[in-house]
Amino acid sequence: MQIFFTVLSVSLISSTLAFFIVIAEKYLNNYGECKIDINNGERVLKVEGGSSLLSSLASQKIFIPSACGGKATCGLCKIQVIDGAGPLLPTEEPYLTKDEIKNNVRLSCQIKIKKDLKIKVPEELFNIKQFKARIEKIEQLTHDIKGIRFALIEPDEIRFKAGQYVQLYTKPYGKVKESVFRAYSMASPPSDNHAVELIIRKVPQGICTTYVHSHLSEGDEVTLSGPYGDFFLRDGASDLVFIAGGSGLAPIRSLVLDILQKGLEKNMSFFFGAVSAKDLYYIDFFRELEERHSNFKFIPALSKPEPSDNWSGETGLITEVVDRYILDAQNKEAYLCGSPGMINACLNVLKKKGFADNAIFFDKF
Ligand SMILES: Cc1cc2nc3c(=O)[nH]c(=O)nc-3n(C[C@H](O)[C@H](O)[C@H](O)COP(=O)(O)OP(=O)(O)OC[C@H]3O[C@@H](n4cnc5c(N)ncnc54)[C@H](O)[C@@H]3O)c2cc1C
Ligand code: FES
Repeated sequence: MQIFFTVLSVSLISSTLAFFIVIAEKYLNNYGECKIDINNGERVLKVEGGSSLLSSLASQKIFIPSACGGKATCGLCKIQVIDGAGPLLPTEEPYLTKDEIKNNVRLSCQIKIKKDLKIKVPEELFNIKQFKARIEKIEQLTHDIKGIRFALIEPDEIRFKAGQYVQLYTKPYGKVKESVFRAYSMASPPSDNHAVELIIRKVPQGICTTYVHSHLSEGDEVTLSGPYGDFFLRDGASDLVFIAGGSGLAPIRSLVLDILQKGLEKNMSFFFGAVSAKDLYYIDFFRELEERHSNFKFIPALSKPEPSDNWSGETGLITEVVDRYILDAQNKEAYLCGSPGMINACLNVLKKKGFADNAIFFDKF
């Protein structure tokens, strides 16, 4: 009997507490309407307080770059907040340099709007649009990589620089109750401006890649936004070294096609690293380009070829292959795309060859 009353009173206390917490949340977190002043009064937005700056801006069609969907793991959603953001959070610190902190740069996904804000938004971000698109084609490129072509419906045209990325928005599915968005580099060239091609590798348990690989079919409609990012060709060196692993091939494909289509006077070497033959794709595509264009060299390499692969190409880690082929940094720029581990290892090799920091550009996936 005593146990019964103890359990009953604990349950009563918990429910009462939960009730008061809900009420407190409702009233204490009711920040009302807040104003966001952009670029010294150029635009003033009125938003409901309580949401993140990133999502509030997106709801007003101002899209700040983001790859992680607001989880504070990509560090891309930086924006200058002149006033009203509150103290810097520990989640922001790892992504900000001392100079950025001094200049009030913040991660917009981490700032909860509680009062009026003054922010600065670079002009180019106003060109980022949200697109309705229909899946035209899905291709299984390897055991874990799909190539997807999205026809743009509204607006039906995108302007971007080769190397940039879009954000793909998921719809709720299975146990995932909310829409998320993730970054995917465009693999198609800017000339193909009524569609967007993405190359998406399945990440085990990944929210967006599971959605793409298991829940999307040809004919489905999706939302994209873009273009984002500063991984694009600089008007510099004559010799370009492209290095990619896995789905990192996507932006390099767009860059190579763009350069060839525009007839730019560039010599290109594209190093593509994979584990074994089952991870290779677009090999015939790049070999054909190599045959047709004397200024394009394609060097695929396998780090662990299977005996059944009958592989006669380069072997070893992509860093070892780059080390063998690239003798110096003269007249060269390097563009890298792939996992953080691969990129960090390649940066070491390139720096030993004499590449300056401002001659190396990369997107870490
Ligand atoms: C600028 C940019 C461009 C990108 N372009 C591409 C692209 O063209 N093609 C492409 O396939 N991806 C690309 N990515 C990665 C992509 O944005 C997602 O991070 C990735 O698809 C995983 O999303 P998810 O929702 O499936 O996984 P999540 O649900 O976010 O993650 C699930 C779990 O997997 C881990 N995880 C997340 N990503 C990876 C990964 N890549 N490898 C191993 N483990 C991981 C997470 O830490 C987490 O524990 C790009 C990223 C950036 C920043
Ligand atoms: S959106 Fe990725 S850190 Fe803010």
